Amino acid sequence: MSGAQGKAAKIAGGVGVIAEVDESRINTRLEQGWIDESYKDLEKLFKAVQRAIDEKKATALAYHGNIVDLLQYVEKNNIHIELLSDQTSCHAAYDGGYCPQGLTFKERTQMLLQDKEKFEKLVDKTLVDHFKLIKKLVDRGTYFFDYGNSFLKAIYDTGEMQVSKNGIDDSEGFIFPSYVEDIMGPMLFDYGYGPFRWVCLSGKEEDLIKTDKAAMDCIDINRRCQDRDNYNWIRDAKKNELVVGTKARILYQDAAGRLKIALKFNEMVKNNEVGPIMLGRDHHDVSGTDSPFRETANIKDGSNIMADMATQCFAGNAGRGMSLVALHNGGGVGIGKSINGGFGMVLDGSERVDTILSTSIPWDVMGGVARRAWARNDHSIETVIKFNKDFNDTDHITLPFIANESLVKDLINKNIK
Ligand SMILES: NC(=O)c1ccc[n+]([C@@H]2O[C@H](COP(=O)([O-])OP(=O)(O)OC[C@H]3O[C@@H](n4cnc5c(N)ncnc54)[C@H](O)[C@@H]3O)[C@@H](O)[C@H]2O)c1
Repeated sequence: MSGAQGKAAKIAGGVGVIAEVDESRINTRLEQGWIDESYKDLEKLFKAVQRAIDEKKATALAYHGNIVDLLQYVEKNNIHIELLSDQTSCHAAYDGGYCPQGLTFKERTQMLLQDKEKFEKLVDKTLVDHFKLIKKLVDRGTYFFDYGNSFLKAIYDTGEMQVSKNGIDDSEGFIFPSYVEDIMGPMLFDYGYGPFRWVCLSGKEEDLIKTDKAAMDCIDINRRCQDRDNYNWIRDAKKNELVVGTKARILYQDAAGRLKIALKFNEMVKNNEVGPIMLGRDHHDVSGTDSPFRETANIKDGSNIMADMATQCFAGNAGRGMSLVALHNGGGVGIGKSINGGFGMVLDGSERVDTILSTSIPWDVMGGVARRAWARNDHSIETVIKFNKDFNDTDHITLPFIANESLVKDLINKNIK
């Protein structure tokens, strides 16, 4: 359990249940008000779920126990789940990231230290049982998606081949979609929308409020549905009490949107309306990460397994003068399974910063849209065509040449025997 799941369920107006084996995690979220109630008894839990549904009350509930126990109860009692995912730390399943069924959190920690081999066997068994339960629920109409935590890959690594799409290996992915294949890729990344982020370095709440307003003023809600969603996100951010620490915000914008907001913020710093601001973004973005089971999961031309997009993103940002650049490995899915190029940019109100923003922000976003366009993702081709027009004076991205499939097939058939 992180804070995100319960909060997301409430913002979306749903009834969310989050299983968690570590009670201290639940207590933190109860204290913060991000979880409404916690249960150890599954019957009582699902009575509370039904009550919330009947009252049409957005609610976030915790189950203190193993997710597999919860899903077994759901399956046995024919309870319908609309949306199901998993956010255990499956990128490190054998190092404590995934708790086997039948062990308390304390017992799991002891076994991990004392008998790693037995622990690994129990992890494998629970993962396979977990997968089989999900399959049954999906057959009954549940929508399951991989949250980007290497869950399906962890099941594949147990040797359970039913999870593989082609039944042979993981080269074509898995039978259930990752959220990037179904949602983030086609709806956001292909257009260049990604998690643009800023931090008010003054630490002042009033600066965050001013930047929220300025960001909203920069967004044209009639441009795309993604803009309207993100406008609403910022409009309601204070009401939804999203900040628990640093005065920071995150919102999804495309290249033009991010640049407009960045330049506006730098102007506000110059005019002493706010203190200095640090821009950044999550590594979970359009260009900054190569990760075939996550960020690049909707790139289907074979280039999803390469590490060059993130490296170019990083190197281009460094060359253009970003304040902080990072090239690193692991980024959520585990060491060796991804490469990430990140940035941070301090806005000090200077003209120098305006120049850096104007060259680096489009670079930081459009490298990934270009990669998606070359993989012939529909919306990224449209996005590149529009970008080439809008940034005509400074930038140009080469478009893919779409070959006539039947011509190619005919030529192959005629010439290769
Ligand atoms: N897609 C994204 O944008 C995104 C964002 C954040 C995290 N992630 C991924 O999600 C995973 C989790 O991230 P986190 O920061 O929340 O990690 P975390 O380790 O802090 O939280 C995972 C929780 O799952 C609990 N858990 C483990 N096995 C369980 C089981 N069988 N039943 C019930 N609870 C169990 C653990 O006690 C732990 O509290 C990571 O792999 C991370 O990379 C993805």
